[in-house]
Amino acid sequence: MKATLGVENCLFPMPTVLVGANVNGKPNYMTVAWGGVMDFDYISVAIARARHTYVGIKENGTFSVNVPSLEMLAQTDYCGLVSGKDVDKGKLFENFYGTLETAPMIRECPINMECRVAHVIDIFPTHDVLVGKIVQTYCDEVYRTGGKIDWTRVQPILFTGTDAGYWSLGRRLGVIGSEGKSSNRAEGERTTWSVVPNSGTGGLLGLRGKDGFVATRENYLQVPFTLDHDLE
Ligand SMILES: Cc1cc2nc3c(=O)[nH]c(=O)nc-3n(C[C@H](O)[C@H](O)[C@H](O)COP(=O)(O)O)c2cc1C
Repeated sequence: MKATLGVENCLFPMPTVLVGANVNGKPNYMTVAWGGVMDFDYISVAIARARHTYVGIKENGTFSVNVPSLEMLAQTDYCGLVSGKDVDKGKLFENFYGTLETAPMIRECPINMECRVAHVIDIFPTHDVLVGKIVQTYCDEVYRTGGKIDWTRVQPILFTGTDAGYWSLGRRLGVIGSEGKSSNRAEGERTTWSVVPNSGTGGLLGLRGKDGFVATRENYLQVPFTLDHDLE
């Protein structure tokens, strides 16, 4: 039976990003997990008015959204623990600027988006939701495959607000549009496999064989996975 939790916002996991702004002419970064896609070229970030970064965004009307990778977890968490009022967080990274000139970005982050504030939603008690128009996106070549952003290389940091947890991206499940189609296939999905020669170790040394299965919409969770094998 489902328990009622009261009002609990459960739109998680969310990507954890570093939002950058120039405050009094100096780069500052804060950790943000309350962000979202508003349109193809618009992004939202919910920033508490008490944040040092907020002052800079208001000052310039610009900000950046930097996507850190897993290896930047310590710095990412740190930027959410301390304020630019007390610590110079710009010194933690190599900073660069783009066309807007006032939105500092972090070179170490695989992806950077520089944004101009397009709209401010100021109906919440502690936060404003800043809607930014992305004017340029930057991505290092090593994080792209075939001209597209390769998320297995970016390794973004995900955040679950209900347990304050950081997570990594799991395995890719499929492709938009094709997964729904396949669940309707009456004739079934056929898969075959074979053992790579010499891949067995220990007691399975010499294992060889091949098998497969046909899964239909009705049985795909229960199809037996067997392998007819020979041991040499
Ligand atoms: C994982 C994580 C996510 C956070 N998300 C937000 C957020 O979405 N909005 C916000 O105002 N503060 C958020 N914070 C808190 C700020 O990052 C934190 O108060 C930071 O020290 C503010 O820095 P500043 O004063 O230099 O701007 C988050 C902190 C962490 C650790």
